[in-house]
Amino acid sequence: MITVALSKGRLFKDFIKFLSTKGLNHYASPLQENGRYLYKIIGDVKFIFAKGSDVPTYVEQGIADLGIVGQDIITENFFDVLNVSKLPFGQCRLAIASSPNLNQHEFKVVATTFTNITRQYFNEQRQDVELIHLHGSVELAPILGLADAIVDIVQTGTTLKENNLVEYSTIMNIQARLIANKQSFYIKDEAIYRFIKEIGVI
Ligand code: PRP
Repeated sequence: MITVALSKGRLFKDFIKFLSTKGLNHYASPLQENGRYLYKIIGDVKFIFAKGSDVPTYVEQGIADLGIVGQDIITENFFDVLNVSKLPFGQCRLAIASSPNLNQHEFKVVATTFTNITRQYFNEQRQDVELIHLHGSVELAPILGLADAIVDIVQTGTTLKENNLVEYSTIMNIQARLIANKQSFYIKDEAIYRFIKEIGVI
């Protein structure tokens, strides 16, 4: 048995779509059943459903052997895990956004969940900004005057558009990554290889 940590939310839906397009309905169908279940065992794979930012922690601690997580999360914080491969889903970007017709170089206060990535970006730009850390609904910040701008995930652009916000710059392009626990990758190599071969990511 191997344990795979999945990120709940958007990446989870993308993973299900990916499995369906690969014809892997023995995984896709049970995984997309409605419910508040926290894990599901399918064959010899145990899938656990975690908040995206917690997935690398489960993998690092060896609770999960593999994890599927956005590149943003493993760039924002260091985790002692193996970064196995890129996955062909979960495409989005981390972008600076605010109300239209402003000058990006004049942003002084920026709200984001990704303070490390954002700090590095503005340092490289030699732009002195104060960062405000938020856990979600980051788009509220420029609308309500908490910040001049945000750095947040943009996928379809709908959230920005519906709230009259626009993108200024892309900070990084993101896609899903497969990560592995360092010990598991060697100890459970056969089972891990079988699974990643089955889902077609090697
Ligand atoms: C993410 C992100 C944006 C939104 C962008 O939020 O933080 O708010 O998706 O997607 P779009 O470009 O397709 O509209 P999520 O729904 O994950 O929730 P959150 O705001 O709580 O982080």
